[in-house]
Amino acid sequence: MTVKLGRIFSGIQPSAATPHLGNYIGAIKPWTQYQHITPLKPILSVVDLHALTNPSLTPSKLRDNIFQMTASLLACGLDPQKCVIFQQSMVPHHSELTWILTCGCTLNRLQSLHAWREKVKKLGKGAGLPLGVLMYPVLMASDILLYQTNTVPVGEDQVQHIELARDIASGFNQKFNSHVFNIPEKLIQEESNRIKSLRDPLAKMSKSDDNQFSYVTILDEPDQIQAKVRKAVTDSNPVLTFDSEARPGVSNLINILASLKNQSISDSLQEIESMNTLQLKNLVSDTIVEHLNPIRKEHHLLMNDKAYLCTLLEDGRKEAAEIAERTLKIVKQTIGLI
Ligand code: AMP
Ligand code: TRP
Repeated sequence: MTVKLGRIFSGIQPSAATPHLGNYIGAIKPWTQYQHITPLKPILSVVDLHALTNPSLTPSKLRDNIFQMTASLLACGLDPQKCVIFQQSMVPHHSELTWILTCGCTLNRLQSLHAWREKVKKLGKGAGLPLGVLMYPVLMASDILLYQTNTVPVGEDQVQHIELARDIASGFNQKFNSHVFNIPEKLIQEESNRIKSLRDPLAKMSKSDDNQFSYVTILDEPDQIQAKVRKAVTDSNPVLTFDSEARPGVSNLINILASLKNQSISDSLQEIESMNTLQLKNLVSDTIVEHLNPIRKEHHLLMNDKAYLCTLLEDGRKEAAEIAERTLKIVKQTIGLI
């Protein structure tokens, strides 16, 4: 397992100040585990250039979100000694490689991607969608390919983007008869780590949801967590069973419980065997509170020490830029720029 994962790269957008429980269980918590099992440091980026595709993010909000997101990653247990944490825009190689890769990528291919088609469907062709929304997957390919990444842990919604990165990499290698880029593999999030909205358990928990009762952020206070979990949509069957399709609400709560306790679903079912739904909700909210308390406190300390966060991001920039520089130089030599 350790050797197979090789170099891991992943990114999280600072489009919201703090991650929610879905981001934590589905992405950040697994990252904290990889850092202990891979010989090469995992590289994790606060992908601020990607966040620019969100038109409602003001400059002051974006600036604050970058710090908040960095503090969140650290508070959740990412160790800057064991992984590289950096702010994407501080390594200009990402933008430079994006232009080079754009020249080898077709409009048709980008327009065929789900994420783009969904946006067009939602906002309409006449809406004058920014080019950044179309180009976003090429920037993501650059993020991945600059670090000769072997493994990209992502959610199901990003699968097409990883396939594009693989195609761009192998197309480049073939065109120039070279082995410039590693071909990355995706590592898809386990089903049990996909956390659903507390208000609509058929939809995923998302920070863009208008209803704040649909998600728990990692900085929510205990009383907020209790109120949100108590209001979580479940069903009228008093016997607790796990069935994601027939009983999505109850199953989502059991999933959260199992993930935070690092236990299997069947262990969790055993633990809640004699409980009713209200007791399950109490147990789930107590478990979330207990898990997030130290994270919230650590985040608060970190946000009061911006100088430390700046130093850490500068160290991350240096480590990332060293690798990115090496790859970009070979790319430039290969295509004839140098
Ligand atoms: P995003 O919030 O879309 O920027 O996602 C950041 C990371 O969190 C990605 O790896 C997503 O797959 C993961 N993620 C987002 N929402 C959820 C969710 N509801 N459950 C599990 N993982 C999620
Ligand atoms: N597009 C990803 C998301 O929205 C974030 C991201 C950007 C990413 N660059 C990446 C993830 C590179 C993995 C690898 O979740």
